[in-house]
Amino acid sequence: KKERTLAMVKPDALTRIGDIIQTIYDRNLILTKAKMTKLSWEQAADFYAEHQSKSFFNNLLQFITSGPVIAMDIMGDEAVSTWRELLGPTDSDTARREATQSLRARFGTDGTQNAGHGSDSLASAARELEFFFPSTVGRGPPNTA
Ligand code: CMP
Repeated sequence: KKERTLAMVKPDALTRIGDIIQTIYDRNLILTKAKMTKLSWEQAADFYAEHQSKSFFNNLLQFITSGPVIAMDIMGDEAVSTWRELLGPTDSDTARREATQSLRARFGTDGTQNAGHGSDSLASAARELEFFFPSTVGRGPPNTA
């Protein structure tokens, strides 16, 4: 089933964007949008709102706001689960112990600094894509300049 998902390259893996895009195409996924941005603390707290009660929330926001991230709209068969498969286990050190080397195994640092993020469901993907790539319809008059 054709899906879209939100992939985010985190600050610790920013310089590996070339290898990461190569990995996306090698798995037959297509990159349809990309945007580099530095999130404010407020934006990061909004993006990760579901984790606000977690013990690692502050560390996570500290890290994710420490430098630019690259958000990507990825399309393809089972894009949500395929991208998470490419990322590998949340903890980069766990990822490095697996037989199949994932993006987190290759480029992640530890459990918090883990190279990338992927939406965990179609519903999350819709919300997270809208977060980084808001639809412009109904947001005022078209720019005629
Ligand atoms: P991500 O897929 O972006 O979703 C939430 C993030 O919180 C996760 O990747 C990690 O960066 C971080 N995280 C998740 N679990 C832990 C944990 N147990 N300890 C520290 N950081 C975590």
